[in-house]
Amino acid sequence: MSVDLRTTYMGLELAHPVVPSASPLTGDLNTLKRLEDAGASAVVLPSLFEEQIEHEEMEVARLLDFGSESFGEATFGYFPELADYATGPGTYLDLVSRAKGSLSIPVIGSINGTSKGGWIKYGKLIEEAGADALELNIYFIPTDPKVSTAQVEQQYLDLVMSVKQSLSIPLAVKIGPFFSSIPHIAHRLVESGADALVIFNRFYQPDIDIDGLKVRPDLHLSTSSELRLPLRWTAILYGRIKTSLAVTTGVHTSEDVIKLLLAGADVTMMASALLKNGPDHLRSVVAGVERWLDDNDYESIEQLKGSLSQASSPDPGAFERANYMKTLVTYAGPFV
Ligand SMILES: Cc1cc2nc3c(=O)[nH]c(=O)nc-3n(C[C@H](O)[C@H](O)[C@H](O)COP(=O)(O)O)c2cc1C
Repeated sequence: MSVDLRTTYMGLELAHPVVPSASPLTGDLNTLKRLEDAGASAVVLPSLFEEQIEHEEMEVARLLDFGSESFGEATFGYFPELADYATGPGTYLDLVSRAKGSLSIPVIGSINGTSKGGWIKYGKLIEEAGADALELNIYFIPTDPKVSTAQVEQQYLDLVMSVKQSLSIPLAVKIGPFFSSIPHIAHRLVESGADALVIFNRFYQPDIDIDGLKVRPDLHLSTSSELRLPLRWTAILYGRIKTSLAVTTGVHTSEDVIKLLLAGADVTMMASALLKNGPDHLRSVVAGVERWLDDNDYESIEQLKGSLSQASSPDPGAFERANYMKTLVTYAGPFV
């Protein structure tokens, strides 16, 4: 079997397209090592959150105020820089540099937020800690009816521009699926500096506990059935938006990875499957992809990539409204 599994993701040369995405598994050095041993071609570390950074900065500011009021001799520089504290951001930067020190695969840092602010400088600090690239996860739930779509989208673009300005490593932007026009926002994010798009963020939906009459935060891991949404949008974006595409949500098996490559993904990312089955699952997924390519006479991932995207598909309407009515009216089940 000599299939070339290599792929390029925002300029990073990866051995194959299966990458563990941000999850608790990538936040620990031992599991990171296990993921590398299982064959991961890169890793995305869990996010450093805007709230986490701002909380820590407020705490430190409080301590600094307290210190300088209490000690007459305290001068500027009396306390070490924020990043030297073993607090949230400091611990995170330490994880980045330790991951870089002990892994030989690319390490992608991640920050998660919604607004421009002091926390954005952490992208640069993650770069300085050694990350090969940065993923910016924009997780924003608009609730104010007076805020327009254009304003929400501008917030995304401003954020991307601000983070990108300070970076020399590539920037991936992870977004959710809730836009009026995904191709338009994708295009504008790329114009604003995104070197890759990661589709789609999985929004964790709270539930309601009808016995306790309260809102219950709930986290269910995904299944392969959730792949359909990013699969369609990958196929539509491929070739239309000139950027690297990574897909997250619903990637569990080699079949899932192959479908996404056919649709046009450069990279496929897994969290739930690895949380369910453990790091070694990755090895069998990659082996399955290689076997399928070999069995179907493909020599490389590049040969396969995008061959069933909307632009190349013999049935482009299948990704659009054209197929919608046909699918509904031809439904057959035990009661119809
Ligand atoms: C427990 C857990 C923690 C996660 N933490 C992060 C995170 O810190 N940053 C992030 O961008 N995504 C995070 N994610 C989202 C995953 O990276 C991934 O995008 C999402 O789970 C969809 O992929 P999946 O279907 O493979 O789970 C987390 C997911 C889970 C299940």
